[in-house]
Amino acid sequence: MAPTRVGFLGLGIMGTPMARNLKKKGFEVTVWNRSPEKAQALAAEGIQVAATPVEVAKAVDVFCTCVADPSALTEVALGEQGLLRGARKGQLFIDFSTVSVGLVQQLAAQFAAHGVDFVDAPVTGSKGGAEKGTLVIMTGASDAALAKATPIFQAVGEKVVHCGPVGAGTQVKLAGNALIAAMLQGFSEGMLLTAKAGVDPRKFVEVVQASGFRSPYYDFKGKALLGRDFATHFSIDLMHKDLSLFLDNAAVHQVPTPCAAVMRETYNLARAAGKGGQDITAVITAYEELAGAKIA
Ligand SMILES: NC(=O)c1ccc[n+]([C@@H]2O[C@H](COP(=O)([O-])OP(=O)(O)OC[C@H]3O[C@@H](n4cnc5c(N)ncnc54)[C@H](OP(=O)(O)O)[C@@H]3O)[C@@H](O)[C@H]2O)c1
Repeated sequence: MAPTRVGFLGLGIMGTPMARNLKKKGFEVTVWNRSPEKAQALAAEGIQVAATPVEVAKAVDVFCTCVADPSALTEVALGEQGLLRGARKGQLFIDFSTVSVGLVQQLAAQFAAHGVDFVDAPVTGSKGGAEKGTLVIMTGASDAALAKATPIFQAVGEKVVHCGPVGAGTQVKLAGNALIAAMLQGFSEGMLLTAKAGVDPRKFVEVVQASGFRSPYYDFKGKALLGRDFATHFSIDLMHKDLSLFLDNAAVHQVPTPCAAVMRETYNLARAAGKGGQDITAVITAYEELAGAKIA
């Protein structure tokens, strides 16, 4: 049987390694990116490069997106040269981006009208998980669409959680990222205060990681903070976008979420300090400047 032809649109920190893993797992891959130079490395590895999203849709059986935000996904899916213009009955659309629940539900309806199944499949695991193919995928899908998407999921991830119908994956993803923001902020603030008070912040990290509130996330981010390694795995701009989506969603459901509201302002402050493109670990550097002290 000929390999499934898969399109991948959005070659950022996450999309590039995901497309590469699909090719490694034997899929015939065609990619597209708004800035075409990012596709060059993949072209050199034998991956097809298309000039437009519509060209991708015409060439493949399944198309996947992993783009920055709702406006990017709207453009790629529904724009002048968008996927919908090349879509045909029997195809599958997998969106790995983190966007709004409303947008994925709208896309599912619009593509269903053309006979295309849609699943929302936001991921967690960041740059490292995308490179190793160990992402955790939370998906909103019908059982039939999930069955079609499963071989793709297995190529890019190691765990799939079927959260419910379309939109359910995104609902869970937004809650997860609101939690990460709060976890990282509490951890970083604790390190900064400990350091300024003259106690080695490594002692704080050691106690946290020996306690009932330890987390593998703190191993990863603690090492980065103590080593002042702010290389971008997940940008402050994108976390700010996710916190904003979470707060919009909370307003729709009339659920008060004060912690996420404070987190969004915290990320706003970091963006105002010109740090939007940096990793989320760099949020604390804005507070270091105010405190006149450094973690390490
Ligand atoms: N990084 C993480 O740890 C992580 C983890 C889980 C989920 N996510 C989510 O995954 C998605 C991608 O994240 P990332 O970290 O890979 O982001 P990224 O490195 O900033 O890449 C963003 C991608 O979106 C494209 N894009 C932006 N605006 C566009 C537009 N108007 N039209 C078409 N394409 C557009 C960019 O194209 P250009 O190259 O032309 O700018 C690029 O391919 C986001 O929704 C993010 O929230 C990220």
